[in-house]
Amino acid sequence: MYDIAHLDIPPLRRCAGTVRLPGSKSISNRVLLLAGLSDGVTAVHDLLESDDTQVMLAALERLGCRVQRDGNVHTVRGIGGRLSTAAAQPLSLFLGNAGTAMRPLAAALALLVTRDGGDITLAGVPRMHERPIGDLVDALRQLGAQVEYSGHEGFPPLRLRGRRGGVADTARPIRVRGDVSSQFLTALLLALPLASGSDGAQPIVVEVEGELISKPYVEITLALLQRFGIAVEREGFRRFTIPADSHYRAPARIHVEGDASSASYFIAAGAIAAVDAPLRIEGVGLDSIQGDIRFVAAARAMGAQVTGGPGWVEVRRGAWPLKAVTLDCNHMPDAAMTLAAMALFADGRTRLTHIGSWRVKETDRIAAMATELRRLGATVVDGADFIQVEPPRHWRRAALHTYDDHRMAMCLSLAAFNPLAGGGVPVRLLDPRCVAKTFPEYFETLFDVVATEPRDIPVITVDGPTASGKGTLASAVAARLGWRQLDSGALYRATALAAMRADVAATDTTALARLAGALPLRFDGDLVWLDGIDITAALRHEEVGALASRISALPEVRQALHALQLSFRRVPGLVADGRDMGTVVFADAALKVFLTASAAMRAERRLKQLISKGISAKLDALRADLEARDARDMHRAVAPLKPAQDALQLDNSSLTIEQSADRVLQWWGERNAFD
Ligand code: C5P
Repeated sequence: MYDIAHLDIPPLRRCAGTVRLPGSKSISNRVLLLAGLSDGVTAVHDLLESDDTQVMLAALERLGCRVQRDGNVHTVRGIGGRLSTAAAQPLSLFLGNAGTAMRPLAAALALLVTRDGGDITLAGVPRMHERPIGDLVDALRQLGAQVEYSGHEGFPPLRLRGRRGGVADTARPIRVRGDVSSQFLTALLLALPLASGSDGAQPIVVEVEGELISKPYVEITLALLQRFGIAVEREGFRRFTIPADSHYRAPARIHVEGDASSASYFIAAGAIAAVDAPLRIEGVGLDSIQGDIRFVAAARAMGAQVTGGPGWVEVRRGAWPLKAVTLDCNHMPDAAMTLAAMALFADGRTRLTHIGSWRVKETDRIAAMATELRRLGATVVDGADFIQVEPPRHWRRAALHTYDDHRMAMCLSLAAFNPLAGGGVPVRLLDPRCVAKTFPEYFETLFDVVATEPRDIPVITVDGPTASGKGTLASAVAARLGWRQLDSGALYRATALAAMRADVAATDTTALARLAGALPLRFDGDLVWLDGIDITAALRHEEVGALASRISALPEVRQALHALQLSFRRVPGLVADGRDMGTVVFADAALKVFLTASAAMRAERRLKQLISKGISAKLDALRADLEARDARDMHRAVAPLKPAQDALQLDNSSLTIEQSADRVLQWWGERNAFD
């Protein structure tokens, strides 16, 4: 996750490959509840990992479900529609701010305690106690459930009580309002099978009062009930009947679809930039039960070529520029935001209507979208329930606000494809971490499938002598920019280690170059793997460093590692440290830092480092060794250690890492200003 103040996305030109979407939140929590109530074991694949699913899992475990996790599979052993005796003790469940946990659990537990007895309180964070639940409670009271408000009338916390042997009154139709939230109806539909065996063989009828909103979400509920063996009969969206004697049946295995709203950003990216090869999106397919899959039709109308099957969608660019459209977006308010971003690449004026609900979401999304698209240079007209966008004639290098709204951030990231529409500017997104609400790994996922000209990917180089703190500084800077990092010394060290392990002599230039040219090396966070073996610690051994220093003087070895080093230059940017990053490998880097510290200071730091690892050493010997390595690095014929002509020198002898990083970021900020 990009937990940084701002993220700069370089101008992007292509998009291809495969992405996997995180699971849908709506499906995840419904599936968990149904699996939890079932008789038997359900293996839930690809559950969304978020706060809301965490609280649901925790609540189910407190109620007696057994949940085991193995990779991306959660195995849930349900309670078989009965409260265990443990749950008959007074119980309090904390449900955070998860509406998708509070509503259905309230309904299910109200019915369970009515029949099996119990005393359960459902509470959440303060914001949860401001979210209305009265309509659902009214419906549950019609069933004879004893539900009390422990705080304010109409809001959680709720206290549910009952005595063993009670019976829910299901003889008359249960009436529930549908015009405030469809979640009340969903909660009842998910829970009522619990009461369907309680009163002889009568079916249970639910009637919706008022016009039901968010119908696609009720469709999800019905489809999932079907998977758990409950065939709800319906008359449109007015009347639903749960057959008598319905029982949840664990489907053994169920897969949580990827989130269709999240898919929209990648469908858009494919429509804009999947030019040579398609972008494949896995986790959600054209057969999806989620309403936002209808975004595909809108994207096609704008020119996208979309094919798909069960669980996958493939997108290519079709018409280019995209076709401007006028579209009523009432049926998919969330995904429609993505169309506003696609409009930046259209051949005229795109008008999205019936989007009044945007104004009352995470932020006023109409105002926010209009403001930010204008910042990019687009001509935007907005009204009470529409937005109209004309693409920029001149793209501006803009710093874009995200309004703590995950969808704003994801939509605006698409503006980075501006070189395909006559631009060539990076895009700055402020507070990018807001994507965590539904898609914590959004940017990582995007960056894995995009490409651009290397010259457009910014590089900061940090060169300097042994033990000057380059690596530490480079990681600090990379972390604060959200960039990748290249520790080029590790490549020389890995070559040295590989040579030691293969018994290759330090003088066998040909064999060394061959080893360096085909290193089976993999970087994984802070870990380095060579041929499947973790060599992170081994790389730091003194004898490995000493051999690295010797073989790095060989032109053949340096040449063999050249292409590998260049391959680290990937979106969104690179901080590379070593000896010749600014002078040779990334001579076009936008900012070059030459880091120094006195030999005495460096020897002291290295001594501390060694002691902390339990290795003993002598200060004098360390200093002599450092000076010998400096001399070798500075006097070798190829790529000698020296500051690049345009490097900025930084002596960090008396600076903390934080202070050094601040200095470098300040230099970078001066060279990289946004409007
Ligand atoms: O920086 P580090 O000590 O890990 O580097 C190991 C050795 O690799 C150094 O002694 C140096 O001689 C060599 N090296 C190099 N060019 C680089 C990085 C490291 O010659 N870009």
